[in-house]
Amino acid sequence: MSKEKNNNLIDTITSLAKRRGFVYPGSEIYGGLANSWDYGPLGVELKNNLRDWWWKRFVQSRRDMVGLDAAILMNPKVWEASGHVSSFSDAMVDCKKCKTRHRADHLIENALPDQKVEGKSADELSEIIETHKIACPKCGAKGEFTKARKFNLLFQTSIGSVEGDKSVVYLRGEVAQSMFVNFKNVLDTTRIRLPFGIASVGKVFRNEITPGNFTFRTLEFDLMEFEYFIEKNDWQKWFEYWLAQQQDWLKEIGFNKDNLRVREHEKEELSHYSNRTADIEYKTPIGWKELFGLAYRTDFDLKNHSKHSGVDLEYTDPESGNKFTPHVIEPTFGLTRLMLMVMLEFYYEEGEGNDKRVVLKLHPKLAPYKVAVFPLLKNKPELVKKAQEIFDNLSSEFTTVWDDRGNVGKRYYAQDEIGTPWCVTVDFDSLEDGTVTVRDRDTAKQERIKIDELSSYFSDKLK
Ligand code: GAP
Repeated sequence: MSKEKNNNLIDTITSLAKRRGFVYPGSEIYGGLANSWDYGPLGVELKNNLRDWWWKRFVQSRRDMVGLDAAILMNPKVWEASGHVSSFSDAMVDCKKCKTRHRADHLIENALPDQKVEGKSADELSEIIETHKIACPKCGAKGEFTKARKFNLLFQTSIGSVEGDKSVVYLRGEVAQSMFVNFKNVLDTTRIRLPFGIASVGKVFRNEITPGNFTFRTLEFDLMEFEYFIEKNDWQKWFEYWLAQQQDWLKEIGFNKDNLRVREHEKEELSHYSNRTADIEYKTPIGWKELFGLAYRTDFDLKNHSKHSGVDLEYTDPESGNKFTPHVIEPTFGLTRLMLMVMLEFYYEEGEGNDKRVVLKLHPKLAPYKVAVFPLLKNKPELVKKAQEIFDNLSSEFTTVWDDRGNVGKRYYAQDEIGTPWCVTVDFDSLEDGTVTVRDRDTAKQERIKIDELSSYFSDKLK
């Protein structure tokens, strides 16, 4: 069966992820917690591989980029200055019958796909819901919604153990602000000069009402983003440059370009900080959805932080001596969302009947395990010993997994399903001639390779 025929791909991926240890429902033994997920042994490898590739490509391989890893809890004044306390909100409605809460724009989009919702006020959204008697997706009741009200997406918590001493702080809703508030620190402590970027990866939190769809929209998620500081007049050039770079990386990962598109935000849709935004969207089984974003944040953030903190966040050009507030282009990459889309993109079902196999055709750099090592028979100590030696050698260089259960055919299929690019089988010939069978995940072809050459064989492939 080809992947196009699998209409329930998100359900299939959710089940594969749970069954094979990529992603588990959060707090499962207590009945779970809506829209929270835990990354299991394979999921954490895949997610880290995406993160590491991103860091290498966009930070370490460039002269104009530096990294930062800042605290999640920040002074609440940060979020006032950034506009998130006043503007980071969604309009919600409650069903009076079944008491469930829904995002007003999502309700309308699902019921009336041609209706534009971007930039509409809570009152305007309510009017559309009432006029079209949109039904509650949970209980089906029509015309039973409350008026839409704005709910802030920032999660609140408090610092201080003594009642009364407590003060409200927010879990960060984006990583970006940590890079703006450290702009001066980075300038003062490095030799970097405009144009340059500060990059960061970490957890962010949003109190969103979400309709499921596995890890697509969650309460907490990993975000990789950078703020690229430029001179105002150059913003269009850098916007186009980073848009191309974001798409290039997706192509390097192996995404089919027909499953990607760029969507420009309309004026009414722009976030409070942005003058231009484009989304890179991916064609999911539930329609085109945002994968990455790119925003021209102007000098909005640095100017506001300068005003609220009283600290000068201007930049002085070392050659001309000109002093100005840099403008910012922000490429943002949802890491957990990218992982979901990678699983959707590279999931294949091939063959029929007994030959049917599920293959995750992940780029080898992303595969949780690069190599699986099998002794042909687990009750033959000489085979196990040789396989163990090979495992020990390879595992110091590549993430390697051991499997000695069932027949070799089943072991191949089990590795295909989790995306392991190569399987090494140690058989009786290996003891005689020092070679092993290496089987390729995508072609299922097998070849004999000298044990001594395995390490360079896989290194070359990974290049
Ligand atoms: N600093 C800009 C910013 O945070 P955003 O479009 O709100 O922009 C960035 O989010 C990226 O984070 C999105 O492109 C998407 O990949 C991912 N994302 C946003 N909300 C998410 C959620 N609730 N769950 C998972 N990923 C999310």
